[in-house]
Amino acid sequence: MTKKMWGGRFKKPTNNKVESFTSSVDQDKKLYEHDINGSIAHVQMLSKQKIISKIESKKIIDGLKKIKSKIENNKFTFKDSLEDIHMNIESALISEIGDIGKKVHTARSRNDQVATDLKLFTKSSLSKLKMLTISLIKGLIKKSEQNIDIIIPFYTHLQKAQPISASHYLNAYIEMFLRDLERINNSIKLVDSNPLGSCAGAGTSFDIDRSYTSKKLGFKNITRNSLDSVSDRDFIGDSIYTCSLLMTHLSRFSEDLIIWNTYEFGFIEIGDDYTTGSSIMPQKKNPDILELIRGKTSSLYGNLINILGNLKGLPTSYNRDLQEDKHPLFSSFETTISCASLFIDLLKSIKFKRKEIDKNINSGFMTATDLADYLAKKNVPFRDAHHITGQIVAYCENKNIKLFDLELKEFKSFSNKIDADIYKSIDNKASMSSKKSFGGTAPQNIKKMIVLYKKIIKNSGN
Ligand code: ARG
Repeated sequence: MTKKMWGGRFKKPTNNKVESFTSSVDQDKKLYEHDINGSIAHVQMLSKQKIISKIESKKIIDGLKKIKSKIENNKFTFKDSLEDIHMNIESALISEIGDIGKKVHTARSRNDQVATDLKLFTKSSLSKLKMLTISLIKGLIKKSEQNIDIIIPFYTHLQKAQPISASHYLNAYIEMFLRDLERINNSIKLVDSNPLGSCAGAGTSFDIDRSYTSKKLGFKNITRNSLDSVSDRDFIGDSIYTCSLLMTHLSRFSEDLIIWNTYEFGFIEIGDDYTTGSSIMPQKKNPDILELIRGKTSSLYGNLINILGNLKGLPTSYNRDLQEDKHPLFSSFETTISCASLFIDLLKSIKFKRKEIDKNINSGFMTATDLADYLAKKNVPFRDAHHITGQIVAYCENKNIKLFDLELKEFKSFSNKIDADIYKSIDNKASMSSKKSFGGTAPQNIKKMIVLYKKIIKNSGN
């Protein structure tokens, strides 16, 4: 049993079960670096404001640096009895430098301390995620440039729909990840204000300089209301939401790749080094990474609900419930960062199997819409054109032939508006190239988009 730093008014020691129940150090020790940086900035400010002396500040900073290196060299013992990372470090500081260490908590509370640590952690995690998202987009741009002339079907209801360029598919994901990038930037903006100096929730009577600590810690802004500062965990919900949508995109992408990797589809090959085998079936090469990304995504949704549920009924201020914010926050970033980073590598190992794709590309009447459009362009009302085309498809299905196996006179028996140029319209490549509307799959559009994506990434500040 350790003497509590807050133990002045207590006559009985804390029950052992209570100590382990209330401790969060197992989780929040991850915050050690931010906690120490926060404390260093705080004492530098205290000394600048002459609240403590220069010598005291130097001693405290040296002590904190020693503790940091002890933690990093696994020479630090974290104690449950000291509750959390903040008191573990403060207590170690007092052991290290003596009574001067007791001054570190002047004009500060754990309430603003933990909020500061969490914001610093969130900011740095978002920056890591930003870099990863940028390199994910760069990888996709590269893949997209290489596969413009590969024609694949896109599916609606998992039924063949129309022919598109493989790059058009990849560009769809570039769009999603660009939105994720914007969300990350926005989350960074929202978390970028310093709560340090809000103390327990009312502020302090000491003449502190909050803009000084903000600058030292790299915060753009200073929080404006001390009560909000210690209650606010919006940035956690917001960041988990940002991570959740990024994971949603990775998960959907994974699902497509899992399907494309089957024997039945055979659209892609994943590198051996990014697949796994079966313990019994020797022929297997399984896309486990993609399945795990898909599986791990749901834990993010759990984390999001967890933090929102924690916040919704809290009385306005710091409440101990907030200690439970660590797991959802840490685990969301750990999962998202590891999934994104692995996905980037796996993507590089993927190759489109043109021959396999081509084997089946002519089945499924993918250019039926082009036939209907052909008629509509000859002034057949689109609804009628759709109906005529449906009849032609049924006729072909019955004869077990494809659209371009039909002879012109057979076409004409459905509509005399159909002429010999129909064969140009129902060819897959011609169909793809004809979709020149803004945002459509025509290669010339795709090329323009790639130029644009490169520009956006270049200007993303990295
Ligand atoms: N371990 C606490 C948390 O993570 C730190 C703040 C404690 N503040 C307090 N008033 N008990 O939320």
